[in-house]
Amino acid sequence: MTSNREHWGSRAGFILAAAGSAVGLGNIWKYPHMAGQHGGAAFTMVYLLCILVVGLPILLAELSIGRRTQLNPVGGFSLLSNNSNWKWVGFLGVASAFTILSFYSVVGGWTIKYTVLALTGSFGKFSATGAAGDFFDAFVKNPVEPVFWHLVFMGLCVFIIDRGVKAGIERWSKVLMPVLLGILVLLVFRGVTLDGAGAGLRFLFSPKWGDLDASGVVLALGHSFFTISLGMGTMITYGSYLRRESDLIQSALWIVALDTFIALMAGIAIFTAVFALGQNPAEGPGLIFVVLPSLFPHMPGGQFFAALFFFLLFVAALTSAISILEVVTAYFIDEKGWSRTRATNTFGAIIASIGVLASLSNGNYNVLSPVTDLTFMDLLDKASSKYMLPLGGMLTAVFVLTRWGVDHFRDEIKSGAKWFQLNKQVITIIFVIASLVVAYIFASELVALFR
Ligand code: PHE
Repeated sequence: MTSNREHWGSRAGFILAAAGSAVGLGNIWKYPHMAGQHGGAAFTMVYLLCILVVGLPILLAELSIGRRTQLNPVGGFSLLSNNSNWKWVGFLGVASAFTILSFYSVVGGWTIKYTVLALTGSFGKFSATGAAGDFFDAFVKNPVEPVFWHLVFMGLCVFIIDRGVKAGIERWSKVLMPVLLGILVLLVFRGVTLDGAGAGLRFLFSPKWGDLDASGVVLALGHSFFTISLGMGTMITYGSYLRRESDLIQSALWIVALDTFIALMAGIAIFTAVFALGQNPAEGPGLIFVVLPSLFPHMPGGQFFAALFFFLLFVAALTSAISILEVVTAYFIDEKGWSRTRATNTFGAIIASIGVLASLSNGNYNVLSPVTDLTFMDLLDKASSKYMLPLGGMLTAVFVLTRWGVDHFRDEIKSGAKWFQLNKQVITIIFVIASLVVAYIFASELVALFR
């Protein structure tokens, strides 16, 4: 175990950093558009259930592997399994980090562009029907501009991660997360005070089960993973900077509560506006970049709230993106003895370059075009959120059950816990259920792939 490992400065600092990782584009961009397309409240209920049944146990498993071993995912699995093949689950995590960050930072770049647009008063032009959609289309296809903003976003990630755990991740999360919450409260207030906001609230909270289809259930299951940053060792890495005295159960509950609360608040802010202004909630991925920009000009104070909204999205994306880069960085520091600066600069540059290809694939330069219609950016998104994360999460649960052992896991969560009652049988049942649920998502995604 590395004794000179850096640790979080405070409990609140860790919880904000981990919640910062969890709260991201998943909460504000993905969740609302998926709920919008798959039955609103019914989707939300299934998603909440999955967070409890699958998300919470796997989050605890990741945090305890990290804290127990004080190592990155590869080192962590390797140490607890006597250097067996289980370390490949760690490698899968590092590979997922490359895959996710290279498209995530492209969308991160879009959020900067839209913040700048709102701040410079350019949102007025979106009031004409179709204007926001045409603009977004032309913007993402442009070979230069989105690439530029993506590089700015990656530069910020490298800047923060290079400063380390306490002075980088923790310090920035402690500033950015309260800013995010503050902005969100303002946006919710703006949303619920619009005339006709009630329809949006009903859409989000009063379930019509008939609207939920099977693909909605699978999506809700998969999303409960993505949204808490599970399945690629992010929480193993953040857990490895915890000291033994910390209470893992309490921390996990905080992380899940903050993540869920923020997703629901984002849903309220967005759907009250969408319904009050008579728009289609089932617009899909364009909900945030196409529907909302066309709504803001019609809202009192719209330009101001637009700037706040996209800045919020940027902050959420940034605190998640740094947690992804930290997985790669921690691996090269722990296992290969690299300096932090060398690791962040090297892999920041490599991920940025893959991201450039992802951004270009939205326009005329899709590297995949000889083989398929899928853009390279979509491939990165789908491969990671649909296959790599669920696989990594399921293997983590199976690892606890079959290799590390429920007894050892239980000892680890007990250490530092103020309140802990679960016995071995209950934990085993919880983990068997969680593994089966994820195995089901994974299998149904695979079946869908080959159909
Ligand atoms: N949880 C983040 C979000 O909701 C995404 C993420 C996934 C971050 C996996 C780290 C690891 O946007």
